[in-house]
Amino acid sequence: MGKKGKKSAKGVQSDSSMGPYQADAPAHAQDRPGVYLHPGLVASAQPRAGPSSSVQVEPGIMPTGPGAGPAPSAKAKPAKAAKIKAPRPPTYVQQGPESLADSLAKLSLGDKGKGRRISESLSAAELDIIKTKEPLYGLVHRKVPGSRVRLALESDVNPFTRKPHTAQYKQILEARKKLPVYAQMDEFLDMFKENQVIVMVGETGSGKTTQIPQFIAFSDLPHTRGKMVACTQPRRVAAMSVAKRVADELDVQLGRHVGYSIRFEDMTDPATTFLKYMTDGMLLREAMNDPNFSRYSTIILDEAHERTLATDILMGLLKNVVKRRPDLKLVVTSATLDAVKFQNYFSVRSNRPAPLLKIPGRLHPVEVFYTREPEPDYVEAAMRTVLMIHRAEGPGDILLFLTGEEEIEDACRKIKFEVDDLIKQDPGGVGPLVCVPLYSTLPTTLQQKIFDPPPGSTRPNRPPGRKVVVSTNIAETSLTIDGIVYVVDPGFSKQKVYNPRIRVESLLVSPISKASAQQRAGRAGRTRPGKCFRLYTEKDFVRELEEYAHPEILRSNLANTVLELVKLGIRDLVKFDYVDAPAPETVMRALELLNYLGALDDDGNLTPLGSMMADFPLDPQLAKMLIVSPELKCSNEILTITAMMSVPNVWLRPPNRLREADAAKAMLTIPDGDHLTLLNVYDEYIQNRWDKNWAWNNYLNQRALAQAENVRKQLQRSMERFEIESISLTDTKKLYVNIRQALVVGFFMQVAHREAESGGYVTVKDNQAVALHPSCGSEGQPEWVLFNEFVLTARSYIRTVSEVKPEWLLELAPMYYDLKTFPDGETKRALQRAANKKYGTPNDGKRSGKRKGGGKI
Ligand SMILES: Nc1ncnc2c1ncn2[C@@H]1O[C@H](COP(=O)(O)OP(=O)(O)OP(=O)(O)O)[C@@H](O)[C@H]1O
Ligand SMILES: [Mg+2]
Repeated sequence: MGKKGKKSAKGVQSDSSMGPYQADAPAHAQDRPGVYLHPGLVASAQPRAGPSSSVQVEPGIMPTGPGAGPAPSAKAKPAKAAKIKAPRPPTYVQQGPESLADSLAKLSLGDKGKGRRISESLSAAELDIIKTKEPLYGLVHRKVPGSRVRLALESDVNPFTRKPHTAQYKQILEARKKLPVYAQMDEFLDMFKENQVIVMVGETGSGKTTQIPQFIAFSDLPHTRGKMVACTQPRRVAAMSVAKRVADELDVQLGRHVGYSIRFEDMTDPATTFLKYMTDGMLLREAMNDPNFSRYSTIILDEAHERTLATDILMGLLKNVVKRRPDLKLVVTSATLDAVKFQNYFSVRSNRPAPLLKIPGRLHPVEVFYTREPEPDYVEAAMRTVLMIHRAEGPGDILLFLTGEEEIEDACRKIKFEVDDLIKQDPGGVGPLVCVPLYSTLPTTLQQKIFDPPPGSTRPNRPPGRKVVVSTNIAETSLTIDGIVYVVDPGFSKQKVYNPRIRVESLLVSPISKASAQQRAGRAGRTRPGKCFRLYTEKDFVRELEEYAHPEILRSNLANTVLELVKLGIRDLVKFDYVDAPAPETVMRALELLNYLGALDDDGNLTPLGSMMADFPLDPQLAKMLIVSPELKCSNEILTITAMMSVPNVWLRPPNRLREADAAKAMLTIPDGDHLTLLNVYDEYIQNRWDKNWAWNNYLNQRALAQAENVRKQLQRSMERFEIESISLTDTKKLYVNIRQALVVGFFMQVAHREAESGGYVTVKDNQAVALHPSCGSEGQPEWVLFNEFVLTARSYIRTVSEVKPEWLLELAPMYYDLKTFPDGETKRALQRAANKKYGTPNDGKRSGKRKGGGKI
């Protein structure tokens, strides 16, 4: 996006006395429609690292929506630099009142027409039964017309609980009837009846995720047939919140009739749940034990346009399963018009493409504004925009998209600081504001805070409070956060990139796609009209942004996926019917890792170990380490370490207490390695009887620790299923050595060696120069370290590091550390020295263990 280079201050006048707001909007829409003035910019703002540095210059968010207003009104005087711009043609398709009216007209016609037919064909007694006792009376699986669904919805009793409908149900039902999807219920049900696979596209907020699964439930009647309807979501937070919403809409308890399933949390009841929202990854895992998806009557792959790895693989699997199971229906929904690709892909029975259902329109309009010039510092510009909205716009909460935890926490602090300042200056003019962060590693309970109501005004007749949710792209799709009126979209997100050559998967801040931008804008306008402020120019949006996100399968490490596919019986990974096939090198890398780990034999067949590994909801390295740990008599501890590595960061580092936090961490640190430190922290937490105060005093995230305990219990159950013993050595010294050896059994390919000449670390075989992350607790700079994460920022860091010995590498992973084939260099020479010391003769790679990757293990 944009040109490279620093911001040009052309047209910007900064006046530091005005604080963050250099300019203000003097005109209200009614007075001067289409005029929008921007908040101004500090002239010294520097470009940030990463792709943001390719974004230039500052100001002026200009409206492009029809009417281009209302412009923000504010009390501060307008600055000279303010840019006034006539409205441009709309670029964001809005659902105008007319098409909504059309939809409603259709809806009432449909209601009347069908209602008449139904009431003609049903006797008064039958209608009474439907209304008062049995709303699903006489319905036949997949032959349910929309009119009968509507009668059931209007019934006095709940068809699933037999309890009277609550007032909340009736209120929500009235809102649901206004959704564009509702108007197309008959069309959908007819299409669903006639076809096995349907592709569906609709605008954001039209009701795809919440309504379509319910229509299907009324048609499939899964509860009467011991089946379920599944709806996949790319993200956990969406799966949980949509399930909650739909449970409310159906007037049932979450976890009973409607539930959700995400990794390490199953909120369903096997006896009663008939509608299940789940992450796509969970459905993929289930497929390994149930390759025909036999528990489901219909599967909805929602948000397919996101092209997550799991959804892509599910599409490939389901394409075959629908051929085997004519009773299984599949609905693929996408928010964009990239449907033709899916339609053609799913031409399964005949060679005709799968039919497409289009759901035009949305409930409320969203106006879109672009900046006049590219922004040099998107975080800075985003914060200014939030403050501008808070000061100048009408009531409504804000959703700001940033790229990662650190950036988000930092922005939350700064916004809070600025707002406190504004309130001090103008207590009567500015209301309170709370910032709520949201990112994937935040514990679930904290994530739920995004749904809390905004603060009220501090005193009567003072401006109301506002909530600002500052989120990564996990809030980009599916979510409805009630009360969000404004979306601020800087146009960046962290995206996964995989380099198969050096086997490094990293997250890079990159420009989003047009589809993502539309999803972001769609988070506004869901419960009332909204505005989206894009911190990039319209020209950049049109010319520079890709149409769709690059499929994740093309930019990921595929080790997990390949193991799952092999477990699913897919032998020929090259011929698998991918929507987009991954690079052969990436598949090769995955096969190679799995072979070294002993999960696949030399012919690519799944070994018993590999089969067991696939059953653990863990990366193959972690699974391997856990499975072999009893042989090193430390499975109890490895189980804890694995659980701790599967939860969000446990360390808290409040910026105003960095020194205290680091001192507390030092007290818990085991110098031999960060993994042992994690073990120590967990053990101390248990010994201190889950005490929140103990966690707090030690700057530890108690919720993450509680989550680790939960994960540990679940993994323990998996271990018991496979009769993997829980063993501990009593000799701590020996135990610590064995634990680190177990780490080597899983992660021998993630080792770095400190070069004597440069003093810097280089990863083995891949020769990447890396440094120990500042968070590492090791004493000094051990010569050999094993690491869990490769962190790519301005420099390459390795994080979660433990010291290891070269002889362990030779012994426990002899195939990988076979000196005959090991690339020449300082690392090889160091290994050779270790081999000579250990064996007395140069190691020929045959002295130690026999098995690949496993050595003696
Ligand atoms: N938790 C909620 N609170 C209030 N209204 C809600 C909630 N969830 C959904 N809605 C309403 O239902 C509408 C449809 O939501 P739904 O998630 O089904 O839309 P969608 O078409 O799947 O959108 P997207 O493309 O953004 O995923 C929303 O626009 C909103 O009006
Ligand atoms: Mg949705």
